[in-house]
Amino acid sequence: MKNPFLLAILIVTSHCLDFNESEFFKSKCDASCIFYGDLNSTTIGSFPSSCTTICARLGIDNNCDLSKNQLMLVFQNMKHLIGSLILYRTKFTSAKFLRTLESVECGLADFTISYNPKMEEIGMTNLTTIKCSLIDIHGNEELKKLNIPNLNYASPSAENLEANKTGIEINIDSEKYGFCITSVEMYNFINIENVNLKKLGGGICEPGIQPSSGKLCNASHNVDEETEIQDGCTQMFGKVVINPKNVQNVQKLSSVEIIFGVLYIENTNLTTIDFLQNLKYISALGYGYPAITVQNNPYLSNFSFPNLKRIKNNGESSVVFTNNTQEFILDPKYCSFFEDQLGQGGWEKPKFDGNSCYTLIQEANTRPPYKFAKNLDLIIVVLFMSIAQIL
Ligand SMILES: *[C@@H]1O[C@H](CO)[C@@H](O)[C@H](O)[C@H]1NC(C)=O
Ligand SMILES: *[C@@H]1O[C@H](CO)[C@@H](O)[C@H](O)[C@H]1NC(C)=O
Ligand SMILES: *[C@@H]1O[C@H](CO)[C@@H](O)[C@H](O)[C@H]1NC(C)=O
Ligand SMILES: *[C@@H]1O[C@H](CO)[C@@H](O)[C@H](O)[C@H]1NC(C)=O
Ligand SMILES: *[C@@H]1O[C@H](CO)[C@@H](O)[C@H](O)[C@H]1NC(C)=O
Ligand SMILES: *[C@@H]1O[C@H](CO)[C@@H](O)[C@H](O)[C@H]1NC(C)=O
Ligand SMILES: *[C@@H]1O[C@H](CO)[C@@H](O)[C@H](O)[C@H]1NC(C)=O
Repeated sequence: MKNPFLLAILIVTSHCLDFNESEFFKSKCDASCIFYGDLNSTTIGSFPSSCTTICARLGIDNNCDLSKNQLMLVFQNMKHLIGSLILYRTKFTSAKFLRTLESVECGLADFTISYNPKMEEIGMTNLTTIKCSLIDIHGNEELKKLNIPNLNYASPSAENLEANKTGIEINIDSEKYGFCITSVEMYNFINIENVNLKKLGGGICEPGIQPSSGKLCNASHNVDEETEIQDGCTQMFGKVVINPKNVQNVQKLSSVEIIFGVLYIENTNLTTIDFLQNLKYISALGYGYPAITVQNNPYLSNFSFPNLKRIKNNGESSVVFTNNTQEFILDPKYCSFFEDQLGQGGWEKPKFDGNSCYTLIQEANTRPPYKFAKNLDLIIVVLFMSIAQIL
């Protein structure tokens, strides 16, 4: 084989061929509940519409000559779809004809709802589970909202599981002005294990929605307005602003798990940030601010976010530390904590006094160990004095 690129393609292809979709269908569905081919007015009679679990590579596109009422009828008993779901360039304003659907489990192809020019919402309100490595909802020009409030579990496609590929990618966007994801939907997505929220357009819909367990509290609208910190909040909506006016209450934030907005700490006499012990996620979608800003805290030299797993923003710098103690600059581990563990596709890297983690690491490597460096001045002075004496 002369061309390594060709070889690579062949390996990938043969690997795909390893996965036998018809065997997969047979293992998951009654023979009478398996459907092959395109769904249209010619084939609709043979669709196994009485089954609750159906195996099919279900693709509906602009060639489909069925109305939404026909689809509603044909899918009315379907709770579990095994195969894949692709709605591409359809004429429909929603996918509510799939509102009975509770789970989709992919074999080879993905979960895709794209380029449907009239689709305003997805509306699959009973959907809880997608076992597909890629969830792709994009190019739907009129999409205003998702309305998939119960989707809270995702895992890889059967084919990828076989190959031990555990990552799940979610891409959701819309060109429609005002498109938003609810706080409930966002919490569900960001809480999925091994998820990469590669692309999420729009913002989080206002106001935030009370979760079924826990408590959502409003934070501030502006960064110069301290947040009124209440007891027992598990979700904060807006800008969580900590400054000299409320710094004495920060311990009450220990119950917070997610911030739909940003964390903004400035001008305090804090020495460490150790009061967000349960914070798992920050979604800064739709905010023109970094997810975390920590500035002008002259005594601050440490932080601890033991449960922080994921930060998602769209494009702005992610984490900005400015003008606190030198500790954060001299020891790159503070910057690396954010860069190594929390990055999501499309995010801007952390900045510490304007430096990237890479720069801080380079500088730390060209400098003697910090503790030693503190003494270095003294050593130089002694050295000079000795030299002076000799002369
Ligand atoms: C339905 O799909 C089948 C198989 O692709 C095709 O042969 C048939 O012409 C289609 N019927 C209509 C009405 O589009
Ligand atoms: C959605 O699920 C609930 C609970 O299982 C059920 O009562 C309801 O009928 C379902 N709705 C649809 C449209 O299937
Ligand atoms: C997947 O992982 C299991 C357990 O770690 C291993 O036995 C198996 O060989 C792996 N399969 C592939 C295709 O790498
Ligand atoms: C948060 O503020 C919005 C208005 O911006 C209001 O509608 C909502 O009820 C408030 N939520 C809580 C929990 O206070
Ligand atoms: C920190 O500032 C707050 C509010 O200004 C004040 O109540 C507190 O005593 C200060 N703590 C220390 C250790 O200086
Ligand atoms: C740095 O922080 C101190 C106090 O925290 C403040 O007085 C000073 O103006 C800040 N410097 C800059 C450049 O913002
Ligand atoms: C920073 O905070 C962590 C967690 O509270 C603690 O384990 C660590 O010792 C602190 N580091 C310093 C240098 O104080």
